[in-house]
Amino acid sequence: MKKREVKFSYLHLGSEQELKEGDALLLEEARRVTQFAYAPYSHFRVGACAQLDNGEMITGTNQENASFPAGICAERTLLSTAASLFPGIAIKTLAISYHNLNGKSDKPVSPCGICRQSLVEFQERTGTPIRIILSGMQGPVLVIDNAADLLPLVFSARDIE
Ligand code: THU
Repeated sequence: MKKREVKFSYLHLGSEQELKEGDALLLEEARRVTQFAYAPYSHFRVGACAQLDNGEMITGTNQENASFPAGICAERTLLSTAASLFPGIAIKTLAISYHNLNGKSDKPVSPCGICRQSLVEFQERTGTPIRIILSGMQGPVLVIDNAADLLPLVFSARDIE
């Protein structure tokens, strides 16, 4: 029997001011597009903005539905946009922000489990790890180098070959 350990490290920054210019721009855009979320049920508006390998910048927001499970998270909206508009092009960096009804958005939130699964499959498809930047509308910023770090022991396309 062997005991194995999974560890990962990420950066914790005090604010967006510690980001490099390109990354700060992505986060600024992720924060800005939260206004385009359709979240009349949760009132939790999520915005995502990605830098693609071809230099394009794309965004996504969560889009809810009265049939609740039909709603889609901002991250997966963005992944669908990326694959539809720029097939085969990798995502280099993805920034995610949010705000909610009580207006408090001063700590990072992390992608949900389904989005983690989708992010990992996307990066496996393109062969390029997705860097993730997380922050509220203000406050600390987390930078994670590889989306796979968020999903140890992932179930992936390779498992069903
Ligand atoms: N949501 C996202 O857009 N991304 C996540 O990673 C977490 C949750 C959305 C889904 C739903 O519209 C709202 O936030 C509340 O869960």
